[in-house]
Amino acid sequence: MRSTENTKLEAIEVADDPGFFEILSTTRAMRRLRPDPVPMRLLRRVLEAGTKAPSGLNSQPWEFLVVRESESKRWIQENYLRVATERFGALRDSLSNEDGPFPRLLRNVFRQAASLHEAPVLLFVCSHRDWPFWVADEDRVGVAPPPYGAIFPCVQNILLACRAVGLGSLVTTMHRMFETELAEHLGVPQEIAVVAMLPIGFPTGRFGPVRRTPAAALTHLERWGSPDVSCDVRGVEVTPS
Ligand SMILES: Cc1cc2nc3c(=O)[nH]c(=O)nc-3n(C[C@H](O)[C@H](O)[C@H](O)COP(=O)(O)O)c2cc1C
Repeated sequence: MRSTENTKLEAIEVADDPGFFEILSTTRAMRRLRPDPVPMRLLRRVLEAGTKAPSGLNSQPWEFLVVRESESKRWIQENYLRVATERFGALRDSLSNEDGPFPRLLRNVFRQAASLHEAPVLLFVCSHRDWPFWVADEDRVGVAPPPYGAIFPCVQNILLACRAVGLGSLVTTMHRMFETELAEHLGVPQEIAVVAMLPIGFPTGRFGPVRRTPAAALTHLERWGSPDVSCDVRGVEVTPS
């Protein structure tokens, strides 16, 4: 029989599995997807990963809507492009000759908006609406919001699982500008919020590393404003002299 100590050690080794960290640091927003169908077997695995997320009181408020039909995808694409243009069109035009991460991102967003219907799957991560416990009864007016704190861990699990099985995806939220019409179009009842839309498919490009500010540059020790000097801003450990 294994000792508790050994079991603990194994758990630590599993937690240090480089595979996980490789996946974590290469799960980028993949906006260029091949039109090849996504096998339902893979999609189920990915959605199963979503359901492993934590939620307040283990309420598991998520439900998934998988859209693959061309007509529906076309309708969504047209509306997505319309609202993207209304909201960000002028900004895109003003930056059209600029280089740099933000103008490039904007161009990629619009490129995807123009071809969204070509993604084999548009996955909608939906949520039962529920007032957060800290909202007093008398303040519960109108339609309850979705519990975002539970839905986004579910979304992140889905993104990581997509990456793990070789599928590309990203979070999009632009559909929220036409959520009422979208819900009607897809038959989603009012008590359900359509929180995120994830286009999913096999990527045309490679999963490169994500670019993020290192945690060391964002960490305060004990009190706000007191930096973690055991690491430099790149996250590299500093040996005390
Ligand atoms: C809450 C949220 C909303 C987002 N909405 C959109 C969106 O509507 N359209 C889009 O193209 N990308 C959207 N994104 C993707 C971000 O642009 C992307 O995660 C970010 O630029 C980092 O990209 P990277 O992982 O490739 O570095 C969203 C991401 C999050 C987390």
